Amino acid sequence: MCGIIGYTGPDQALPIVLAGLQTLEYRGYDSAGVAIDGHGALAVVKRAGKLANLRAELDQIQLAGTCGLGHTRWATHGEPNDPNSHPHVDAGSSLALVHNGIIENHAELKAELAAAGHTFTSDTDTEVIAHLVGSLHDGDLAAAVRAALPRLTGQFAVAVMDHRDPGTLVAARRNAPLVLGHRDDASLLSSDVAGLIAHTRDVEALLDDQVAVLAPGAVTVTDLDGNPAQGHRYTVDWDIAAAEKGGYEHFMLKEIHEQPAAVRDTLIGRTDAEGRIVLDELRGGPDAAQDLRHVDKVYVVACGTSYHSGMVAKYAIEHWAGIGVEVEIASEFRYRDPILNPHTLVVTISQSGETADTLAAAEHALAQRAKVVAVTNVVGSSLARMADAVLYTRAGPEIAVASTKAFTTQIVALDVLALYLAQERRALFPDECRDHLARMEALPALIEQVLGQEAAIADLAHTFAGADYFMFIGRHVGLPIALEGALKLKEISYLHAEGFPAAEMKHGPIALIGAGGPVVALATRGHVWSKITSNIAEVKARGAVVLAIATEGDTEIKAHADHVVYVPEVLELLYPVLTVVPLQLLSYYIALALGCDVDQPRNLAKTVTVE
Ligand code: AGP
Repeated sequence: MCGIIGYTGPDQALPIVLAGLQTLEYRGYDSAGVAIDGHGALAVVKRAGKLANLRAELDQIQLAGTCGLGHTRWATHGEPNDPNSHPHVDAGSSLALVHNGIIENHAELKAELAAAGHTFTSDTDTEVIAHLVGSLHDGDLAAAVRAALPRLTGQFAVAVMDHRDPGTLVAARRNAPLVLGHRDDASLLSSDVAGLIAHTRDVEALLDDQVAVLAPGAVTVTDLDGNPAQGHRYTVDWDIAAAEKGGYEHFMLKEIHEQPAAVRDTLIGRTDAEGRIVLDELRGGPDAAQDLRHVDKVYVVACGTSYHSGMVAKYAIEHWAGIGVEVEIASEFRYRDPILNPHTLVVTISQSGETADTLAAAEHALAQRAKVVAVTNVVGSSLARMADAVLYTRAGPEIAVASTKAFTTQIVALDVLALYLAQERRALFPDECRDHLARMEALPALIEQVLGQEAAIADLAHTFAGADYFMFIGRHVGLPIALEGALKLKEISYLHAEGFPAAEMKHGPIALIGAGGPVVALATRGHVWSKITSNIAEVKARGAVVLAIATEGDTEIKAHADHVVYVPEVLELLYPVLTVVPLQLLSYYIALALGCDVDQPRNLAKTVTVE
């Protein structure tokens, strides 16, 4: 999704802005631009396509100035071409503005401004904000922004600079992330902490309808009436190396390999000396002893890969804690009338904590007075701030668009939550909880074992890379992994891949099986093993080549499948943490074989901050 970077300080702004944009590339974008205040005049340069196109253009011109803004655009209104790229300028080209999000009433505002004589050069909603702020500017840029915001409907993070106010950046947000960076000699802003950590760890997440004015080494935040305000200020505790590739060819591969450590971190410190689960994080919200005991219904709400981890959690919460769970896509949940009350626990899952649909679902649940727990990876994210309580997944920064370590850590965090619910509600005996936790603590070493088969999985990927249609089938906890395996593959290799409940095949999808089409079957040992092997037989009988993900030591599976990748034996509910790993590697190596852009797949954004 779009990325914003801004700098004002003693150094030349352009190299800092460009480096910041490069850091934000992983969010996904299709054009980029910069604005630099060159002593009395603004220079705006923007180009469709990758950052390299913008850099090539900038190589031809000298842009000097110590205050600047940069933007990577992920097109929503208007195609990804030069005029639609950001920054956009106002009628007199005095100010330049960048924007993330969507202005829902842009058509109405545009008509009003056009009637007043404004002409527009792009199809974007953003240009309307630039003109609106420009029209309200009466010598004070921050005042103009404060006056413009109440006119905007939708979600936005905006940053603006004006050559009449040199060295100053003004920023504001509503339902879209914007983080300020504090330094003694300079001030920065970005849509993402990753854009700031090369310069400072002292950051401040701006809150909704706050306006920040940045000068070198000085930041002032106000509300819309101009009263002093404060964002959420904190220190970033992860290292810049965590956001770099560390010798791997792609972030995705690095993040796949980080899973043992990430899962270990997720589990650290979740128990007391007696081995009881302690989730202090929940005490600020739905109190463990009180509210959680009275929960009579759980909704799990998320998007994409996070939704799949939510599906896995359903099995764990229902089985261990004995509470009914419904799992729903956030964008659907928010537009129906779920029956929620103070005894409903709504678990919202989001790696970024900024996914617009998930935020809206959480808001909807809070409005109905349900208890909202956020399971997220990003400290201080919007979801973390709005929820009653937060369970951090501690996966470290996930840069690749295709989510991997965020997924496995989400499952582990949700399993801990399920056991905690079971413990507090006495649905399991303490020694059962301890035993399950001990088995979870063994997961990092078991993931290492699965990763040890990387070369063999890469070979399989070469075998399959020529196929144009993949099916993934699974039952019970194998089903979410089938869906996740298919999502991962289509996301980064652009191959058609679908996941199905294995028994549903004969109700329609089996018609798609042609001679030789690969079917990946989640076939680990458990109470549905004999069922899935029958489903494998059904597809094989119709010509499918089957790759089974099975339990180590299961020699019988070889009679059913053409290829087998083994994972170590674990508790049935914990298999997803292991079985997804070969599917991540399979997708990675197929995408690599097909020459795809693994870390920044086409059309996709890392953080989906629009509805
Ligand atoms: C995963 O590979 C995807 N890129 C995507 O489905 C993602 O999981 C989804 O957009 C939700 O993001 P979130 O976890 O940050 O809310």
